[in-house]
Amino acid sequence: ASLRLGRAVAGSTLFTPTAAAVTTRLAVGKVASGFIAGETEDETAQAIREIIDGGMKYTLDLLGEATLSEKEADDYAERYTKLIRHLAENKRPDDPEVNVSIKLSSLTPRFSPSAPEDSASEARRRAEPIFKAAMETGAHVNIDMEQYELRDLTIYTFAQMLKDKEHFGWDGLGIVAQSYLKDAEKSLDSLVEMIRDSGRRVMVRLVKGAYWDHEVVEANQRHWPVPVHTLKAQTDAAYERMTDTLFKNTDILTPAIASHNIRSLAKAIAIARQMDVSKDMYEIQTLRGMGDPIKKALVDMGIPVRVYAPFGAMIPGMAYLVRRMLENSSNESFLRHSFMDEEPIDEMLEDPVFLCGAAGAKSATPQDKKKEEEPENAVRVFVNEPEPAFHLEKTHDAMKMGIEDAEATLDKFYPLLIGGHAVNTSEIITSRDPAEPSRIIGETAKANEALGRAAVESAKRAFGGWAKTKAMKRFEILTRGAAIIRERKYELAALEMFEVGKTRKEALGDINEAIDHIEFYARGAVKIAEGKITESILGETNMALYRPRGAGVVIAPWNFPLAILAGMTCAAIAVGNTVVVKPSSNSPIIAGVFVDILEQAGVPAGVVNFTPGSGEELAPALINNPDTKFVMFTGSFETGSSIIESVTHNADKKYGFTKVLAEMGGKNAIIVDESADLDMAVSGVVASAFGFGGQKCSACSRVIIVKSVYESFVKRLIPAVESLIVGSPFDLETNYGPLIDEVAKRKVESYITIGTEEAEPLLIPQKETGAGHFVRPAVFGNTPPDARIATEEIFGPVLSLVRAKNLNNAIEIANSSVYALTGGIFSRMPSSVKKIKEKMEVGNLYINRGITGAIVRRQPFGGFKRSGLGSAKAGSVELLKELSVPQSVSENIVRHGFSPDLDS
Ligand code: FDA
Repeated sequence: ASLRLGRAVAGSTLFTPTAAAVTTRLAVGKVASGFIAGETEDETAQAIREIIDGGMKYTLDLLGEATLSEKEADDYAERYTKLIRHLAENKRPDDPEVNVSIKLSSLTPRFSPSAPEDSASEARRRAEPIFKAAMETGAHVNIDMEQYELRDLTIYTFAQMLKDKEHFGWDGLGIVAQSYLKDAEKSLDSLVEMIRDSGRRVMVRLVKGAYWDHEVVEANQRHWPVPVHTLKAQTDAAYERMTDTLFKNTDILTPAIASHNIRSLAKAIAIARQMDVSKDMYEIQTLRGMGDPIKKALVDMGIPVRVYAPFGAMIPGMAYLVRRMLENSSNESFLRHSFMDEEPIDEMLEDPVFLCGAAGAKSATPQDKKKEEEPENAVRVFVNEPEPAFHLEKTHDAMKMGIEDAEATLDKFYPLLIGGHAVNTSEIITSRDPAEPSRIIGETAKANEALGRAAVESAKRAFGGWAKTKAMKRFEILTRGAAIIRERKYELAALEMFEVGKTRKEALGDINEAIDHIEFYARGAVKIAEGKITESILGETNMALYRPRGAGVVIAPWNFPLAILAGMTCAAIAVGNTVVVKPSSNSPIIAGVFVDILEQAGVPAGVVNFTPGSGEELAPALINNPDTKFVMFTGSFETGSSIIESVTHNADKKYGFTKVLAEMGGKNAIIVDESADLDMAVSGVVASAFGFGGQKCSACSRVIIVKSVYESFVKRLIPAVESLIVGSPFDLETNYGPLIDEVAKRKVESYITIGTEEAEPLLIPQKETGAGHFVRPAVFGNTPPDARIATEEIFGPVLSLVRAKNLNNAIEIANSSVYALTGGIFSRMPSSVKKIKEKMEVGNLYINRGITGAIVRRQPFGGFKRSGLGSAKAGSVELLKELSVPQSVSENIVRHGFSPDLDS
């Protein structure tokens, strides 16, 4: 069979193997029409007819935009239902059955592994009318497989669909297995078992997988193990073994071998023959526009062939086209080699198992390569914490346990810590759950001015010893602290869910960032301590050294209750300073736990002192104090600027100046130009504006849209925002929880009232009356650039849309802000991207992605204008240098004799 198939296609003319190369010469539309059946119903009907006339069957895939709202999901499901009925009505008696392919992520904007039950039930709810139409007309529906992150969720949903009693007797459901995943065979085995248990017959399409580049890039960016094979031959070999599994189970399933690789296909045909599986018990599937000579050869051999034909508009179909182009231009593509490179038949048919062996020794991913290159030395290697992997059950289990553990710690009391002593006070701070204010999270002692002074005094006393401690020793203590946090990651994340109302994803992100900060600064400090030779000339060595500044004060906010607090504290102490930590009164409990962890890790008494309390009351002791050598502050512009002003009075002849490092607010803008991919722009804006209810200094609060796309952007944005779920952070499907307190809630509500007078109210939430501090999102359209809601920091779920004449005007509006923290653009035009890089005044600029969630080392964070002092950024080595006093040492090394050390 192999040779016959090989010969049949060997002399064929080129189909379109090098699509990427062709695009440079042909109009994109022409290329698209090769892969896409048509844009209109008539074009599609014509394409289907050609497939049928060619002796083949078809499956239709309705191309669409990403589903970002409930409305879009409804529309999508309705289009499929109509499509099935339309095709069935127009079917000729001899035509093959109607067959469609569908992606579950298109049936709900919330198809996410972080909320599996909700995702499955939403997808099933929308699939129901589609299935009904299919059952009534004898049509088939295949569930396509998407990225790895959605694989298990898709199978989980499919399992529930199979169990649905109403569908019994209808064998028109199909599913896909991808062989490029490392755990593909295990997954197929359990899929087969599941189908067997269901008592229903299913078509299983075996593919290699269309998202290879995506999987490798995502895994690297999120610090996950790469889930796909990295050698093409491994994918091919798994494909053959999985083919075998499918053919062994033809009593309960119909194998659909989907490939254009004649070795893969020939092997399947050979297995079928060997197992005596007749041709009507399986089929070969191919994609439209790919491997046409193969299709013809198979039809001539009497083997059933089905063509996967996407249809719909080209722009929404771009993601599909990109996948096809990546595939066809890839060095690993079978079609590219076989046709373009005219590979000999023997090589085309080579056994992949043999090839795996030949090349298997080499690792291929950048991540693996990096690991190989990195020295063993733990001090040198910094790796970011992996993102929470909610597609793995173990993450859900760990989170459940974390919540139980955190709940058991609620109600604890945290004393002050001064010079290693626990100090109780008569006044206390009570921390409450913002979603349920009657729930007390814990209590802390409350420092007054005298205790604040005592804390600075103790930090000052501890400075000498800590400054002299070897950098390596400090590194060991700090990384031990990071290890404890890592060990308790889920419990601490859960504590944040209770104390500040973060969702589990946001809370885990904060804990991860805290670990990253500590690990990163601990390493950076060792490097800095080594000093650096600046320039050496004959007879003279010149070095840059860094000395610690002294005792300092860390004033941290509640919105990243561990990451910012731990980051500032550990950066300061890593380079030998000592500190007094004053947390926000909205998140003193997580701060108390952190200080405990540092003690446990071995931070000596007095190096970190802990004084929760009122900022105003403590300012004279902590800020207006010449013994305070530096202040690290993250919070509002008002407080930050008053600190900057106050410390100037500390300077006197004896003590010198107090250094301030301040990160303050933002009024961050995302620009959407006429070439933006609206799928990306809408989801990027929604995530950036409403993640944690907009309570991030990096949050997007203005979208500046070039007028030609304003209406189409708004049309998609509003339903997407309306679809957000605001509620308890403990509900899996919640997008964001409560605001931090009653004051914040009232402030945000008053801005919503102001907005209704200043701009066009596009989405105005009902006032929430319950005890929790919930505010649903508000969106204002046609906002004048100088309106209060477009210029003042709101720190809540309020978004202003501003219409711009063109890109220059959009940049002008963006830059008119007094803040300069984060900002971004969605654009597919290189000239716009270039302009933005040159002109946009922000500390952190993001292109074609969301504007929040800076990652330590990768995106050092901080702004200028009213957003910050524009110097050292969080998550950078420069911050460590700012926390130190630079010293130049110039040594004359011309021989002048030496005397032995006197004390040796
Ligand atoms: P070929 O033999 O050239 O294999 C190319 C494939 O090898 C790549 O697509 C990738 O999977 C893999 N690969 C490439 N480089 C690699 C490397 N360095 N290491 C390891 N593996 C590497 N896909 C999907 O994910 N979900 C789906 O639902 C469908 N549906 C579908 C329906 C039909 C009818 C067809 C024909 C195909 C699909 N696909 C799919 C696409 C499919 O997964 C695959 O991308 C293409 O069919 C190309 O594979 P071939 O066997 O044809 O070519």
